[in-house]
Amino acid sequence: MFHNAQPKVLYSRQQIETTVARLADEINRDYRDKRPLLVGVLKGSCILLSDLMRQLTISVEIEFVALSSYGQSTQSSGRVKVVKGLRDSLVRDRDIVIIEDILDTGISLSRLLNYLKKKKPASVKICVLLDKPSRRKVEVKADYCGLVVPDRFIVGYGLDWNEQFRQLPDICVLEEK
Ligand code: IMP
Ligand code: MG
Repeated sequence: MFHNAQPKVLYSRQQIETTVARLADEINRDYRDKRPLLVGVLKGSCILLSDLMRQLTISVEIEFVALSSYGQSTQSSGRVKVVKGLRDSLVRDRDIVIIEDILDTGISLSRLLNYLKKKKPASVKICVLLDKPSRRKVEVKADYCGLVVPDRFIVGYGLDWNEQFRQLPDICVLEEK
């Protein structure tokens, strides 16, 4: 699947820029007198996190977590593991904002939410660039949501297929040639 696929632009870099600015406004407003810890989910959130944090006027800190990935498959296996986590002391009493590329089945983010909540943060919210609600299997809601996407495989702006296409500046869908 997708071995001969070509990326086709779904959302342009200008549309992404406007969207990221709007997400930053919302976070700036909600965390005005706070110093949230942005927790980026590796690797897909790397570009979103870098663009978003430069639009934030509040004080923030960043950390990263990694979840077991799809590998070559395009579906969550349903058994997602936290393969790079955070020490309890980094999370305890902090206002956490998870930064993730896409909310698809919800399995990964619900796993991460459970993992973080056990460490007793003051609060946890979720910020995603993309939401694919048609594929949801576990109920998870994003507090900050960029763009809603159709049930197509998305690449670019950090999102990959088989570790490829992360560097594309636009959000694209993969189409068989
Ligand atoms: P979920 O557990 O199904 O919600 O999947 C979340 C993770 O799967 C995301 O962090 C992405 O890494 C990956 N993913 C889901 N849909 C896509 C897609 O359309 N393109 C690329 N990666 C995706
Ligand atoms: Mg991801």
